[in-house]
Amino acid sequence: MTEATMEEMATSLKGRDFLSLADYTGEELRYLIDLSIRMKKQHKAGEIVQPLKGKTLGMIFEKSSTRTRVSFEVGMYQLGGHALFLSKNDLQLGRGETVWDTAQVMSRYLDGIMIRTFAHRNVIELARGSTVPVINGLSDLEHPCQVMADYQTVLEHKGRLEGIKIAYIGDGNNMVHSLMIGAAKLGMHIAVASPEGYEPDADVTKVSKENAAQSGGTVLVCRDPKEAIAGADIVYTDVWASMGQEEEQEKRIKAFRGYQIDEQLAKYAKSDYLFMHCLPAHRGEEVSEGVIDGDQSIIFDQAENRLHAQKAIMAATM
Ligand code: CP
Ligand code: NVA
Repeated sequence: MTEATMEEMATSLKGRDFLSLADYTGEELRYLIDLSIRMKKQHKAGEIVQPLKGKTLGMIFEKSSTRTRVSFEVGMYQLGGHALFLSKNDLQLGRGETVWDTAQVMSRYLDGIMIRTFAHRNVIELARGSTVPVINGLSDLEHPCQVMADYQTVLEHKGRLEGIKIAYIGDGNNMVHSLMIGAAKLGMHIAVASPEGYEPDADVTKVSKENAAQSGGTVLVCRDPKEAIAGADIVYTDVWASMGQEEEQEKRIKAFRGYQIDEQLAKYAKSDYLFMHCLPAHRGEEVSEGVIDGDQSIIFDQAENRLHAQKAIMAATM
């Protein structure tokens, strides 16, 4: 990327929301990943880089979190700013104040808002009512910050993104949606295997296929884990019951029989495949202990990169 293009990118990202990878071009996503890698190196070298001095991020949480909460809060501190943890139940939002009013009020105090919520429409509504950038820290539809960290991790380990094949075996949930949208924008190949009734969202699949056709990537949604995993560089899975689906746990364990990534299934991937999981994980359900704790697992590199990826997103948009 030339200096001029980098400057153009920086200008075009300023003030933008980060709700879905679908709102960004492949070049913009790649710019943010490269920025994150650069900021990670600076941080490791002990350089203090504080473009957000004096700025405050509000973090609204309607669901639990370990990684998202800690990485956003630490990230904001490292950038010279401050982060506020706001549990939905402690806000008037939890007593029925509208998302719109909350967004309007918060915009008068804050320089950015991160939200983790159930319904994706809350993320959209918050962004609509807010005059400062809104970042999606996970909704039932998408988890875009996780995927920025994930594709940075892939790039660091594999040296490229274009042409890389990711196999996702499991539930057609928020994780796989963002993985598909991102892969399609970045020229990667993604193959998804899910049991009947648990496929990824049809619209997300359609749009991802259209975007992949432009970028040189491919998107395959199938039933058979062996078909999806064949020749994969990256093998990815997520929990079978996401937050809010706890009461379906038993039913889902039955429905997902045969979809565990274990040593047997992993043999169908490339011999140098890498295993990824957004965490938290359920060992013995979606993944065997041998795979997730084995030499080819890079789950903690992914978790670390949440910090760097989100610092880049915040620095660029706020
Ligand atoms: N992967 C992820 O978002 O983790 P948390 O739920 O702990 O934030
Ligand atoms: N699909 C999981 C991801 C957690 C980071 C969930 O929504 O609970």
